[in-house]
Amino acid sequence: MNGVTIALAKGRLGEKGLDLFKDTDMEIIREKDTRKLVFKDYKESITYIFVKPSDVMTYVEKGVADLGIVGKDMILEEDKDIYELMDLNYGKCRFAIAGFKDQTTVKEDDVLRIASKYPNYVKRVFEDRGQKVEIIKLGGSIELAPIIGLSDIIVDLVETGSTLKENGLVILEELDPISARLVANKASYRIKYDTIKKIEKILGGAK
Ligand code: PRP
Repeated sequence: MNGVTIALAKGRLGEKGLDLFKDTDMEIIREKDTRKLVFKDYKESITYIFVKPSDVMTYVEKGVADLGIVGKDMILEEDKDIYELMDLNYGKCRFAIAGFKDQTTVKEDDVLRIASKYPNYVKRVFEDRGQKVEIIKLGGSIELAPIIGLSDIIVDLVETGSTLKENGLVILEELDPISARLVANKASYRIKYDTIKKIEKILGGAK
């Protein structure tokens, strides 16, 4: 089998991704609580690397990883030249515009201030509407921004809705649905086609 490197997002998404290979000949065994970032399966034909979620697409586009498991949110945010092969049907949540109840998402002739971890995505959504925006890029705790007056509204991932609720915010509009996806480097997909198809089959059978 051709050697394949798979980039997994550190955290819940990557851990669950690794679970999909359980009980297959691509399974890896890791020591508990390890800080190691590179792992090989028993046959040493697959290398798994753990990277920051926002970096998975970069590793795949550059070809240092042949495949990646990444949230659709990152695919929508990062404009990378890769193939999106499969919806893995886990890590489900959605992008949403959120703010205070009854708040408007339109400000005619005025700038709408939006806090988000996803500036490129937000820019596209609001450009399509012809709404002028000031995007405030934050690294996390986005829900804080409207509460302390840093932004009018936010665009963020919503899963259970409890972070919004506990901070007195509501969904004003639902946007794209999000889930984990298998992505591939374009050259790798051609060169390592058989191995990648085998991996797709394993992941396709996973729930
Ligand atoms: C994510 C997201 C929301 C929250 C949504 O944050 O940015 O804040 O989860 O989940 P919920 O609808 O189930 O409450 P994350 O946990 O990644 O933390 P962050 O604030 O560092 O972004």
